[in-house]
Amino acid sequence: MLKRDLEAFKDWFSGYTQGFFTDNTEDRRNIDLKIRHTFLVCENIVGIAQSESLNKNELLLAETAALFHDIGRFLQYEMYRTFLDSISVNHARLGAEILVEKNVLSRIPVNEQELILNTVRFHNTFELPSLADLQKILFLRLIRDADKIDIWRVFSEYYEAAEEDRASAAGLGLPDDPGYSRNVLSCLYKKTSASLSDLKTLNDFKLMQLSWAYGLNFRHSFRLTSERNFIRRISSTLPQTEEITEAVALLKEFVDEKAGGAMNEGN
Ligand SMILES: [Fe+2]
Repeated sequence: MLKRDLEAFKDWFSGYTQGFFTDNTEDRRNIDLKIRHTFLVCENIVGIAQSESLNKNELLLAETAALFHDIGRFLQYEMYRTFLDSISVNHARLGAEILVEKNVLSRIPVNEQELILNTVRFHNTFELPSLADLQKILFLRLIRDADKIDIWRVFSEYYEAAEEDRASAAGLGLPDDPGYSRNVLSCLYKKTSASLSDLKTLNDFKLMQLSWAYGLNFRHSFRLTSERNFIRRISSTLPQTEEITEAVALLKEFVDEKAGGAMNEGN
């Protein structure tokens, strides 16, 4: 694909998303949240892809995948007024369907269209699907890191904002009480990701988000996580019990160590 293809895709994206604007302040805030998220995931993925020395074509493809990764969010919100897949629709699969239905990608080669569609379709699965195609795996790793890093930004800002300024559809609707679940915290100690179905409180959700750091794939991702202080910003809103403080300290150490590796390489 060429630079002008990416420009055409960006134009399509702004036209398409503008179609979801309404006069309702709350709806507008939720739509704007996803537009801003999209552009910041684009920035993240380009940064990661450059530090992994991807070629020019792959850089354009990676940015396109990021541009479209959450394209299903807009129709999901219009239809269900939520970003919760569990009570509405799988937004990743919906996004891939929209791209096909609207023939958005037809100007680039078929193998590149397939790569983008695959990346969009599987960007949100709990585990990486097992695929034989190494480029497809690489792109899923890229989008998952770029996405998580911006989701941490969204939620750092969300937890720090006054309640009336929060984008309503960003939360999970979990009770914001002081409790947290032992099995979710234990995932953090085991360096695995907790699953959505285990979450009972907002604190569980925060612990799950923190545990994502163990699943990052690229050094540049660790560096961004460390530089932007997401671990501290999210963990400071958790109850400061000894077991949480300890788990967070281990996580920070892990992230900083991985981030340091990248800096020693002279980038
Ligand atoms: Fe998504």
